[in-house]
Amino acid sequence: MQMDWAKGLIQPRTAVRESVKTLRELQSIYANQEALRSMDPRTVVYRVQAWCPVPEGTEGGLFWGTTVVEPGHVDSEYFMTHGHFHQKRNRTEYYTTVDGEGALILMDEARRTWMEPMAAGTLHFIPASVAHRVANTGKVPLRLVACWPSDAGHDYEAIRQSGFSARLLSVNGRVSLVGSGG
Ligand code: PA5
Ligand code: NI
Repeated sequence: MQMDWAKGLIQPRTAVRESVKTLRELQSIYANQEALRSMDPRTVVYRVQAWCPVPEGTEGGLFWGTTVVEPGHVDSEYFMTHGHFHQKRNRTEYYTTVDGEGALILMDEARRTWMEPMAAGTLHFIPASVAHRVANTGKVPLRLVACWPSDAGHDYEAIRQSGFSARLLSVNGRVSLVGSGG
């Protein structure tokens, strides 16, 4: 396998799982539903590549993935990933930024939310029992690489139901975490 470190992409593409998330699939995560209705639902928000060399659920294995989040916003809310807890809550993860600018938004099970700025080279450890999503606050695609345990699993339901307790918004041109942060 090869990493194209300029783009953060994994090759060959035939050996990885690829998925694309559009505004249509992400409707529930944005605050301003009216603004969302005025946008093309086919707009791509992010793409994910995952290299899964062992079967999903294998204890002791590791997965490697790339996420590319497009620049954009829904009203004042930056384009972002869906966000999830790991199904096995004690499983952790690394993210590292290849290119672009953004934020890693983290929320613990007590719903305390905080953020870490992302820029080329930043390295982030996501602790156990902490939900995570990334937002693109810049003008170019935000490219990040992740490594996580093959038995972590993704729990999207908790976020679909209750979201994060704070949102990353552009307020008077400044990146602001708005809501009940921690
Ligand atoms: O495993 C991870 O945490 C990442 O690879 C994410 O799955 C990726 O960034 C996409 O986000 P989400 O899974 O919340 O849609
Ligand atoms: Ni994860």
